[in-house]
Amino acid sequence: MFKILNKKVLHENILQFTLEAPLIARKAEPGQFVVLRVNEYGERVPLTIADFNREKGTIDIIFMVIGASTTVLASLNEGDSILDLVGPLGKKTDIRPDMGTVVCIGGGIGVAPIYPIARKMKQVGNHVITIMGAKNKDILILKDEMEKISDEVIVTTDDGSYGIKGFVTTALQQLIDKGIDIAEVVAIGPVIMMKTVADTTRPYNIKTIVSLNPIMVDGTGMCGGCRVQVGDETKFACVDGPEFDGHLVDFVNLMERQRMYRPKEEIEKDHICR
Ligand code: FES
Repeated sequence: MFKILNKKVLHENILQFTLEAPLIARKAEPGQFVVLRVNEYGERVPLTIADFNREKGTIDIIFMVIGASTTVLASLNEGDSILDLVGPLGKKTDIRPDMGTVVCIGGGIGVAPIYPIARKMKQVGNHVITIMGAKNKDILILKDEMEKISDEVIVTTDDGSYGIKGFVTTALQQLIDKGIDIAEVVAIGPVIMMKTVADTTRPYNIKTIVSLNPIMVDGTGMCGGCRVQVGDETKFACVDGPEFDGHLVDFVNLMERQRMYRPKEEIEKDHICR
């Protein structure tokens, strides 16, 4: 059992849990994820590790309440426990010193997993520009934290209620137009956002890494549920990723696969909420 040490409401349907998980915290690296099961009836939910503290033996997860399992998860409180937590899973982000200017892009809840990546990019000596995107200013998360670990933070909101009015690609295109020498872009967020980021950087041949979030079951490469098409190859996001070259990912296929179970998910959520 994994105890919830702290529960923080970042927005009405975005929550942050600090979990007691010393073995996972000891090995966790930016880019990796955990698979959790709230209780014995729960499905397995993959969530990227938003933060970890090796000394305290804790990891943080940030999630949006969108389906049946996250609804149950959100109903837990400090002192409650989660039945299963497996991790750290997946490959860590490739972070090297002196890469140069790295643009870290987080869209919506994707700001959570980009945070430890941006932090380590900066720690090892890179120049980090963070672009954070949200629908409006009320659902901007981790802005203060991002400002502490980035050389520059640019905020975009769809409705213009904060920062630049537009999408993360609006800000990215502005950086490119300014002639900033971007060594690499790392983008995490909704699939359509990651696709448009990759479309933006492709003509300039800027290396672009995206973190994919397909449906996962075991998280260890055995079920094939998380398969994604990357170039000519079929990859398993849980063991080969979750990060891949954004210029090679078949995003259309990924979006179709993500939609497959949505009707069933709605029925299950209705059932739980009643
Ligand atoms: Fe089963 Fe990746 S989740 S192979």
